[in-house]
Amino acid sequence: MKILVLNGSPHLSGPTAHMVSAFIKGAEESGHTVVLVPVAHRNIRGCMACEYCREKEKGVCVQKDDMQAIYPEILSADMVVFASPIYYFTLSAQLQAVIHRTYAIDIPENVKKVALILSSGSPYVYGPAIAQYYHSIVEYWGVENAGIFTANGKQNNSREKRDELYRFGKSL
Ligand SMILES: Cc1cc2nc3c(=O)[nH]c(=O)nc-3n(C[C@H](O)[C@H](O)[C@H](O)COP(=O)(O)O)c2cc1C
Repeated sequence: MKILVLNGSPHLSGPTAHMVSAFIKGAEESGHTVVLVPVAHRNIRGCMACEYCREKEKGVCVQKDDMQAIYPEILSADMVVFASPIYYFTLSAQLQAVIHRTYAIDIPENVKKVALILSSGSPYVYGPAIAQYYHSIVEYWGVENAGIFTANGKQNNSREKRDELYRFGKSL
């Protein structure tokens, strides 16, 4: 299976990245091919709602930024993992921009399952991010939710969390 991981954290060595690394280790050990894109370190602008992708050239985004390299990765993935810190109760703006820009390709038909990895300072802050994930991704794409993983406070960077993510990757 080809797995695309979109990490929306700007911290390359923060708790989100650590959970992502543990997941990737497990998934690769199980024989999957994983592509990791740290989207907060890419130049990806917000959707301009110009409708070019729907009305002029189907599936083509007029904005020629780093999203152009991510479109083929999404379209060829069997699974997409969304990873993000919680910012003001939802996903980071960087990951949000990527999700909005999938408007150009609409539903990626090859994707069969998705997962969500979230890190936050406090507990009980995941409602809006999880609601968006379910409505905009799981239900809209018509794919299986393979799992939702969260870490807050002391769980961040903990061995237990990394083991949980490693086991999840390994189980795929
Ligand atoms: C702009 C901003 C907004 C944040 N908003 C929240 C929030 O609403 N709730 C919360 O629990 N933590 C919030 N946090 C804390 C981060 O979610 C937390 O530090 C997280 O572990 C960061 O993960 P990372 O280092 O992997 O990016 C916020 C942090 C920043 C920088």
